[in-house]
Amino acid sequence: MELRTVDHPLVAHKLTALRDRTTDSPTFRRLTEELVTLLAYEATRNVRVIPRTVETPLQTAVGVKLSPPRPLVVPILRAGLGMLEGMSRLMPTAEVGFVGMIRDEETLLATTYAERLPSDLTGRQCYILDPMLATGGTLGSAVQFLVKRGADHITCICLIAAPEGIARLTELLDELHVPCTLVLAGLDEKLNDVGYILPGLGDAGDRLYGVV
Ligand code: URA
Repeated sequence: MELRTVDHPLVAHKLTALRDRTTDSPTFRRLTEELVTLLAYEATRNVRVIPRTVETPLQTAVGVKLSPPRPLVVPILRAGLGMLEGMSRLMPTAEVGFVGMIRDEETLLATTYAERLPSDLTGRQCYILDPMLATGGTLGSAVQFLVKRGADHITCICLIAAPEGIARLTELLDELHVPCTLVLAGLDEKLNDVGYILPGLGDAGDRLYGVV
């Protein structure tokens, strides 16, 4: 797995504001979208393109366009939903599929409670959105899900990751033999004993949408 932690002062500035416990939900949502747009620029570096020529007012220009089949963006509900707008802004023609996953707060195991994805993902490049890579259970299950359906290129976009989650994802991906890139805004220190990232930003879903 290729790991890219985006090293940019604007990303660091926005991430710091996001971590701040006094940042309210509307600001948290806006910062998340802005951060994801910045990360998406890096995450789509290997998006497939094909040649295309256009007529400028002066002559023919040789360029490119996104290659079919359309890339698939998959936010993991609930917190990944807060990242969708920021991603769609950069790649508006991508298709969007949804996976709902919940983590059991005692076992830390992820279970799928909803899924709306194309049944055949053969040859598709997929971009998974999940703000917090903690134990790696949720993201790992989502990657397995997409690869089983035929996805052949996976990019995970997370705001923050813990080393424990990266290790687990790396182990899993070694078995799957599908190229995968993980793009982050920040790599944190560790997990606490209930699976939260330290220093982290708390519960991303709650901070985006409130406690339900
Ligand atoms: N999920 C979150 O929202 N925050 C964490 O720190 C870990 C998992």
